[in-house]
Amino acid sequence: MKDTNIILIGFMGVGKGTVARAIVEESGMYAIDTDDLIESMENRKIKKIFEKEGEPYFRELEKKTALWLENNVKGTLISTGGGFYKQENLKKIGKVVYLKSSFKGILDRINSAPNAKNKLRKRPLLKDLKAATKLFNERAPLYESVADIVVDVEKKDIKLIVKEILGQI
Ligand code: S3P
Repeated sequence: MKDTNIILIGFMGVGKGTVARAIVEESGMYAIDTDDLIESMENRKIKKIFEKEGEPYFRELEKKTALWLENNVKGTLISTGGGFYKQENLKKIGKVVYLKSSFKGILDRINSAPNAKNKLRKRPLLKDLKAATKLFNERAPLYESVADIVVDVEKKDIKLIVKEILGQI
């Protein structure tokens, strides 16, 4: 348990960052985020990487990050970008926790955030709602199939979410 990483996966806007911060507060675990690692490796924002290099380049960076995590990181809470679940070595990195919500629940959550516009701007794949809905429907069963633990987070108190996750690790 002490050396095990916890990996949070789930769709954009589901609250991976929020849950990660709450787990850190409760458990004192060290935390990292794959998008943050990529942004510091590239010294530019995800949005810029997508614009300038395109998605396949970004996915290669995610793959590199996944290998680095497997070999170098222990006992850490790892929050991930919404497409990181595809990494082949995901389970070798740690216990995979899927934060589950309906697409409507995610949109409600984003729209009710005080910085809603900013949240949308930062996420290139959320710009087109029809395409985002399609992506959600494609991914929902895949998230579930790679997860060790599935936690329904929709309309649930953050304290309860943290308790459910830490109780199952
Ligand atoms: C992506 C989700 C984003 C980010 C990138 C691609 C995806 O992270 O990694 O824009 O493919 O779902 P968040 O899930 O933190 O928004």
